[in-house]
Amino acid sequence: MQRWKGRDVISIRDFSKEDIEYVLNTAERLEKKLKERSSLEYAKGKILATLFFEPSTRTRLSFESAMHRLGGSVIGFVEASTSSVKKGESLRDTIKTVEQYSDVIVIRHPKEGAARLAAEVAEIPVINAGDGSNQHPTQTLLDLYTIKHEFGKIDGLKIALLGDLKYGRTVHSLSEALSQYDVELYLISPDLLRMPRHIVEELKEKGVKVYETSDLERVIGELDVLYVTRIQKERFPDEQEYLKVKGSYVIDLEILKKAKETLKIMHPLPRVDEIHPSVDPTKHAIYFRQVFSGIPVRMALLALTLGVIE
Ligand code: NCD
Repeated sequence: MQRWKGRDVISIRDFSKEDIEYVLNTAERLEKKLKERSSLEYAKGKILATLFFEPSTRTRLSFESAMHRLGGSVIGFVEASTSSVKKGESLRDTIKTVEQYSDVIVIRHPKEGAARLAAEVAEIPVINAGDGSNQHPTQTLLDLYTIKHEFGKIDGLKIALLGDLKYGRTVHSLSEALSQYDVELYLISPDLLRMPRHIVEELKEKGVKVYETSDLERVIGELDVLYVTRIQKERFPDEQEYLKVKGSYVIDLEILKKAKETLKIMHPLPRVDEIHPSVDPTKHAIYFRQVFSGIPVRMALLALTLGVIE
């Protein structure tokens, strides 16, 4: 296993199954400690910088909350237009500056590869909080943590990823991580939003059983997990294309009549209209428990990369 101290978290592909399990176990340890005391002191005196060049609610606030719960402090910006980026400063110079002020950087950026560039420039650890349509590795770790919490395992499950599989970074990272486990993957999307071919090929090469379809009703009865995603309107080059697929799937009580009683529905959030609010009180809905998982998992990632926990 690679050393954790100083390590960047850019793509889930950089993590072995052993690494993933290590993060999940560390998160579990921290969640237990948090039950005893609401704040810990592992990161006392350490500073997290959050650089958000794209909107966020959960990812940024849970990273910030996680750092506070670890006893550390937080600086950052949520609007690049209030930083010197607005004056034309390069990402490289921004990172070179911010690393003088902090011990770990969390960055979200609309361009694929931005987090990798930041990691190359910075001497301190950089954590990718989403780069364009590419990757969202910390979301994936909290998704896996949620599945494990719910089922006690990941192996043996039938997991569907539904919605925008073309532009959704959460499902790109998640499917790649799941290829390390023994799962059956259902990729459900409109034709226009299918999972990129290179990811599907790679999943198959790794021996994952992959089924692609646009017909949710046909397969919903087989599933253990239904991971729903938002159509990523902001990534469409053309509004007309978006209008063709808008509202493609809506999970409601009617379609859930066909599901197993034990089916769990996940969503990275924010949702627009893909899950009807009437689903929220049912035992299928675990998306708010999923939101909570962001705290222990991001605490684990911060503590490990800062080298303040083993
Ligand atoms: C996701 C994202 O930013 O990729 N949100 C999140 O981090 N929970 C999903 C989305 O925006 O649809």
